[in-house]
Amino acid sequence: MSAPLVIAIDGPAASGKGTLAKRLAAHFGLPHLDTGLLYRAVALTLIDAGTDLGDEAAAARAAAALSAEGLVDPRLRERAMGEAASRVSSVPQVRAALLSWQQRFAAGPEGAVLDGRDIGTVVCPDARVKLFITATPEERARRRHRELAGRGEAAAPEAILADIRARDARDSSRAAAPLMAAQDAVILDTTELDADAAFAEALAIVTRLGGLSRA
Ligand code: CDP
Repeated sequence: MSAPLVIAIDGPAASGKGTLAKRLAAHFGLPHLDTGLLYRAVALTLIDAGTDLGDEAAAARAAAALSAEGLVDPRLRERAMGEAASRVSSVPQVRAALLSWQQRFAAGPEGAVLDGRDIGTVVCPDARVKLFITATPEERARRRHRELAGRGEAAAPEAILADIRARDARDSSRAAAPLMAAQDAVILDTTELDADAAFAEALAIVTRLGGLSRA
């Protein structure tokens, strides 16, 4: 019998990787972990405690103490939390604490879909399928603007584009597990694709690489 199917999905902010991961997980009946939520939850713990986001020891303690119940707070999806997550995620002890969490999830008997920044490179280097989802910063900013507006969080489009560029720079340049495509990842540029077209492309890739039937 072949090993359970693990699908690793990476990409920059608002590239659509979360939506794709959810749809692929539903299609194949696999559990899904949005690993960005873990970093957002660490940041939220610090914010709620009134602790400076630059306090690396406090961030490491929050990561070590993280529980599944901490991942459902609706505030985790707010724009400011993405920024805050990006800051705590550059702390190596935070990444180390969250690594075993993610690897346990991926090692479940049913297989899994994980999305993040370092899934194909660090968390699941042996995943059967690796996708790197990307789009231009301008298109990602448009998507993030729509998403936030849909949740009633108004923000100027230029400010969102500036966030996206700053986050790309920080996530790509950090020393610990920087954002990058694994050598064996398939790169999917979704700039010209809507959500359904991106899903169709991703499904075709997973089906081919995973040795699966489409059903
Ligand atoms: O949805 P969006 O792409 O804006 O953010 P996210 O996936 O929730 O990730 C928020 C931040 O967490 C990112 O900017 C990264 O700095 C960090 N992160 C990471 O370092 N490694 C991961 N596997 C996932 C997220």
